[in-house]
Amino acid sequence: MLETRLSATVFALIIINKAGGLIYNKTFHEAGLNKISTNDLLVLAGTFHGVHAITARLNPIKNPAAAAGITAPAPNPAAPPGILTRPEPQSGLEVLESENFRLQCFNTMTGTKFLLFTDTAQANVDVTIRRVYELYADYVMKNPFYQLEMPVRCDMFDRKLLSYIREINSR
Ligand SMILES: *[C@@H]1O[C@H](CO)[C@@H](O)[C@H](O)[C@H]1NC(C)=O
Repeated sequence: MLETRLSATVFALIIINKAGGLIYNKTFHEAGLNKISTNDLLVLAGTFHGVHAITARLNPIKNPAAAAGITAPAPNPAAPPGILTRPEPQSGLEVLESENFRLQCFNTMTGTKFLLFTDTAQANVDVTIRRVYELYADYVMKNPFYQLEMPVRCDMFDRKLLSYIREINSR
């Protein structure tokens, strides 16, 4: 029982701005993942951003016959000829997983990315990451001193985030 409890853990959060810059980092569980250097953290943010942009453009082609240049038997009348319909919305890379951790990405409408590092056993990461986004909206976006795209230094956000994650980690 104790083991199961210890294994479901939120390790860390990083926030990446729409240009791929790291604007926030926080480790919640010191005993979780070993620390990575500042440089590695910046590289991770930039690399994830780039890979996300590429994966967002990768979509299965819905009509393979059209892709091969063969006229489809019943073309969609709404779609202009020759244009392949692609699924909406375009979402890029959402989850990265290793044997030791799981990284989930939440991409906002404006391109800000929330990356949550958790144990692979952590459940409902979607819910957690959305709640983190709500805290960001309430305590960072509504902070009159916060400048968009700049590093997040908001005490209130830190405190609310910490208590929320602590509650999850102590379940
Ligand atoms: C990580 O966050 C701390 C504050 O919590 C900050 O001092 C440090 O510069 C941040 N690191 C990077 C690489 O942004």
